[in-house]
Amino acid sequence: MKWIQVKNYTEMSQLAARIMTEKIAEKPNATLGLATGGTPEQMYRWLREYSAERQLSFRDVQTFNLDEYIGLGREHPNSYYQYMRTHLFAHIDLPEAHAHLPNGLAADVNAECLRYEALIEQAGGIDLQLLGVGKNGHIGFNEPGTPFTSRTHLVQLTESTRAANACYFSSLEAVPTHAITMGIATITKSKEILLLASGREKANVLAELMRGEVTEELPASVLLNHANATIIADEDALAFSIVAKRK
Ligand code: F6R
Repeated sequence: MKWIQVKNYTEMSQLAARIMTEKIAEKPNATLGLATGGTPEQMYRWLREYSAERQLSFRDVQTFNLDEYIGLGREHPNSYYQYMRTHLFAHIDLPEAHAHLPNGLAADVNAECLRYEALIEQAGGIDLQLLGVGKNGHIGFNEPGTPFTSRTHLVQLTESTRAANACYFSSLEAVPTHAITMGIATITKSKEILLLASGREKANVLAELMRGEVTEELPASVLLNHANATIIADEDALAFSIVAKRK
């Protein structure tokens, strides 16, 4: 795994957006794995800007989000679909049918998980997967202890994850208790992975990762064994780690 240290949130966002833009330039029918949350917000803004500058089209791109809350439909203001619409989909020419997220209203959740896995396969697998990381090392909604062999599945959210996401809802009670998430094996099958981390609140988890132990207790540590994974982290997130500075 490659570590890239950048100065701050803006540099992290710009570098990640450049890598994503380059992927689309190089492969106009790329399959992108997308994340939500606070970390990639500004990255999406730069991705919109850089792809427009280069007149790149998303017409043939397919996107697969990591996760969606159970119980929230696409039109719910707190659904991850709405997050993606706000930050990316409404601003680019990606056909609606190419933007995939698990269906949080599926009557049969297991069938929905299988459908999602099959769709990713049909698209030829994910070329570039974007990730954030939870303070406890989760990737997607794969909390500590999730098997590295897991595929898209139903998860019960931990109280700490619900509390971390409560700022986007009217109250903690309004945060859904379950979600569908890509599994760890789904994520690591991606040809290339980009994990972004910014801010002092991620410093402990990155220091843990830096220790180099690959364990299911730290889901993000699975990336240490991936052939093409990069972490882009800013100085605050690396405050407790030692990394060679990017030239
Ligand atoms: C988002 C996701 C989560 C977040 C993680 C970090 O789709 O699956 O794993 O990436 O919780 O969230 P932020 O970026 O809000 O700190």
